[in-house]
Amino acid sequence: MTKLRLGVNIDHVATVRNARGGAHPDPVALAKAALRAGADGITAHLREDRRHMRDADMERLRAEIAAPLNMEMAATAEMVDIARRLRPHAVCLVPERRQEITTEGGLDVVGQSVTLAPVVAALAEAGIRVSLFIDPDPAQLRAAAAIGAPVVELHTGAYAEGRAGELERLRIAAALTTALGLECHAGHGLAYDNVAPVAALPAVRELNIGHFLIGQAIFDGIATVIAEMRARMDGARASSG
Ligand code: PXP
Repeated sequence: MTKLRLGVNIDHVATVRNARGGAHPDPVALAKAALRAGADGITAHLREDRRHMRDADMERLRAEIAAPLNMEMAATAEMVDIARRLRPHAVCLVPERRQEITTEGGLDVVGQSVTLAPVVAALAEAGIRVSLFIDPDPAQLRAAAAIGAPVVELHTGAYAEGRAGELERLRIAAALTTALGLECHAGHGLAYDNVAPVAALPAVRELNIGHFLIGQAIFDGIATVIAEMRARMDGARASSG
């Protein structure tokens, strides 16, 4: 089975930094440490309200790390302009509401295909690989393929909350990505104790994990935490054949 990539979301290093308004801890330094420890790429969400990552952080990430940078953003004109200038390796389009604590629910590609299609096209035209963050719902997957997105990221939040039937929904959705010619990523709420069943889904090529890794790094250090998550991902992959 193909190796599963680990993208490390560093937003909450910026959350801690911003709590005191200074420069420490530096999310870019953490990104470099995560890559040294075996992460395959870095994910960062530039929110409209800049509550964690800031424009200057994104510019430094782009300039200072060679590994793939996955910029999460809302499908707004402001963000499209920034992404087209920054040219990260990938953009993951997410829904964004100001009051939410984190990204709640996936994009409604079915309902918003008319507004999302030109955004996907504008980013692709700049050479950026676009993924759409969606719930594991066949209708959303088909809509994502129809508007020309090459990648989808399946929202694992409901699965991580332990809701009944969610692993099966992920399994069905991941299998459908192959049939639709989409590359499949997954993320949200993944941790040591729930990563294995998702990592074992053959179609999944990349996991994006943030909150748990950054939180656990407070206890164990980022290198230990990345190594442990990698081992669990690789172990799940190996045992599923
Ligand atoms: N993928 C996407 C699209 C997200 O918005 C987030 C949260 O920012 C994650 C993955 C990572 O989720 P978590 O921080 O719960 O690991």
